Amino acid sequence: MALQINATNPEHPALLLELPWHLPLEEWPDKYLVPLPRGISRHVVRYARAGDEVIAVKELAQRPALREYELLRDLDRLGIPAVDPLAVVTGRTGPDGEPLECVLITRHLGGSMPYRSMFETTMRPATMHRLMDALAVLLVRLHLAGFAWGDCSLSNTLFRRDAGAFAAYLVDAETGDLHPELTRGQREYDLDLARVNISGELLDLEASGALHPSVDPIDFGTEICARYQELWKELTRTSVYPAGKHHYIERRIRRLNELGFDVAEMQIEHASNGDSVTFVPKVVDAGHHQRQLLRLTGLDTEENQARRLLNDLESWMATQDDYAPGDPLGARPEVLAHRWVREVFRPTVRSVPPELRGQMDPAQIYHELLEHRWYLSERAQHDIGLETAVEDYIQRVLPKRREPLRSTEE
Ligand SMILES: Nc1ncnc2c1ncn2[C@@H]1O[C@H](COP(=O)(O)OP(=O)(O)O)[C@@H](O)[C@H]1O
Ligand SMILES: [Mg+2]
Repeated sequence: MALQINATNPEHPALLLELPWHLPLEEWPDKYLVPLPRGISRHVVRYARAGDEVIAVKELAQRPALREYELLRDLDRLGIPAVDPLAVVTGRTGPDGEPLECVLITRHLGGSMPYRSMFETTMRPATMHRLMDALAVLLVRLHLAGFAWGDCSLSNTLFRRDAGAFAAYLVDAETGDLHPELTRGQREYDLDLARVNISGELLDLEASGALHPSVDPIDFGTEICARYQELWKELTRTSVYPAGKHHYIERRIRRLNELGFDVAEMQIEHASNGDSVTFVPKVVDAGHHQRQLLRLTGLDTEENQARRLLNDLESWMATQDDYAPGDPLGARPEVLAHRWVREVFRPTVRSVPPELRGQMDPAQIYHELLEHRWYLSERAQHDIGLETAVEDYIQRVLPKRREPLRSTEE
């Protein structure tokens, strides 16, 4: 059988041909290899250079190789964070004419680390919680897309620290299965496997002295499942909102925030019986919102203000006709953000008379207006709108604020 390279990109086969396919992967000379840390695996896995790219090469039988390649392509189409499949090489033969195993090639996920390397310096429990949250987000996203992993574990996940955010990526899809939708039983089975795998991996780390003494491997496995359940519930419960939906959406975003998750993306679909809203969750690190708001709008604020303002900006963006995250034809987030500054943020802040603003800067005023709107809407059990909130804030809140100030001046 002749050597055959099936690739997703037509430029790759030529680059890949330069690699020593006639040698078992374990015998590849160093000049082809890139020495980066690897996780634990059943198969032989090596990193190699192909043109400007670093690729991960995994040796396995033909059927599972083709299957994993197709599954990774499906995950890519579904927008799930997973390694990119590049090619499958079949028909390899050794110098003696003996057939060699197939290989699956994926793009090395830049900036990623296998969990063992991350734990080498004994990770603080708080950081560990963020990583586990990222893994819970990944599993929820896979399940929402109908993918049963079959082997969710730390070894089959890569973690990336990206602009203050932690993201988990699926690296091993071999045992996975894609369905139109998962049953509760399928999800729970998958989750149970994750719990057992993760607790086992943490026990191994504990035995090698790499685990923070305050972390209990068994409790931690259970905790991941609890995080998954909270997130699943918050994301999937009935999500059709009546008109004047703003308040309901904000309530759900706040609940996600309280659970420690952020909304990375939001989609509002208009239907005759109301609007249905989908959220894509994300785990973020301290200072993330501040940097994000600064980058998008130029507003330099405190972290809590930034979180509140970004939520408002996100909800507003989702109502704009040209909002299409991930679509090159949609408006860029920066463009929408500037429109929001011009059409919403500034006019709202300006409507507060300067003499009532005191020491507050525009971001603080806007933040307080959003809080006030939230407070009044909760009381009214529906969204009272920004304009009403602004009026009430000017008439009732700000004058009271100034009184104690004046009395101390007198
Ligand atoms: N595209 C990739 N980018 C970065 N690391 C990778 C990539 N593919 C594989 N690896 C590393 O190799 C390890 C083993 O890969 P995996 O697909 O899980 O093999 P196995 O099926 O044998 O378990 C992973 O834990 C990861 O550290
Ligand atoms: Mg694996």
